[in-house]
Amino acid sequence: MEKINQTNIIKPYDDRRNIAVPGNSNVTTEYCINHFIETAKKCIQDRGYFAVALSGGSTPKAIFKGLARKENHDIIDWSRVLLFWSDERCVSPNSPESNYHMAMEAGFTHLPIPLENIHRMKAEEDPENNAIAYEQLMEEKLNGEPFDLVMLGMGNDGHTASLFPKTHGLHAPEKKVIANFLPQMDVWRMTLTYECINAAREIVIYVLGESKAEMVNKVFTGSYLPDEFPIQRIGTQNHKALWILDEAAAKLL
Ligand code: 6PG
Repeated sequence: MEKINQTNIIKPYDDRRNIAVPGNSNVTTEYCINHFIETAKKCIQDRGYFAVALSGGSTPKAIFKGLARKENHDIIDWSRVLLFWSDERCVSPNSPESNYHMAMEAGFTHLPIPLENIHRMKAEEDPENNAIAYEQLMEEKLNGEPFDLVMLGMGNDGHTASLFPKTHGLHAPEKKVIANFLPQMDVWRMTLTYECINAAREIVIYVLGESKAEMVNKVFTGSYLPDEFPIQRIGTQNHKALWILDEAAAKLL
C-alpha cells in the first residue's frame, strides 16, 4: 500500500489537539504503523532510543501486527526500542485479557527487542504497591525523561488508558502511575496518569470505526466535562495530542 505523507494530513483542531483522517480503516491502520516507525526512527536518531507506552485495544493490536511484518524487521534498530505500557488489567501476563500478552503475541515477540527493554506493568498482584514500583522503574530506565510516544485508544464511554469516568484516578496530580479502582466494573486497573501522559513528547489517540463516531463528536464539540469524558483532558498547549481517526469515526465532525 502506498505510504501517505505523515505530516501533510495532520490538521490543527484546537489548542490541545491535532487530527489526521487518513481514510478507511485499512488505510488508517497503515498510516498508524508508518507513523510509529517514523517516530521511532527520529527518536533513535536524535537521542539514541525510543521509549513508547503501549495501549490495549483493537487498533493498537492491528498496529502491532503490522509492525511485526517481515518488511519492518530491519526498518529501525529494534534493540533501541524500550517498551512500557499505558495501562494494564489485574490479570496474569499469560491471560488473553492482558495488554502485555496482547502486544507481545500480536507483534513484539516477532521483533528483535531485547528482553531487558520490555517493561510490563505487573498489575496482577498488589496493584497499589506495584504502581509505585512501576513509577520508580520508569524513572530509573528513562532517567526522568518523558515517554517519546504514548499510544492511546478511546472507549465508548470516553475513557482512555484506564482513566475511566468518575474514578479517583482522574485526580492524582502527584503521581505518574496509579492503581485505579473502577466501581462501574468492580475491578482494579493500573494506568499512567494524565500528568505522565500529557508530559510525553508525542501522544497519539487511535480511534477507528463508526461505533466511536458519536463519542468522538461529543468529546470534540461538547462541553468540557473530563470527569465524565476523561479523554477530554488528554493534550496540552505544550504537547498537543494527535488524534488519528478513520473516516467512519470522524464522520460526525
Ligand atoms: C484497554 C485500553 C483501553 C482501550 C479503549 C479502546 O486496556 O482496553 O487501554 O483504554 O484503548 O477501550 O479500545 P478499542 O480500540 O478496542 O476500541
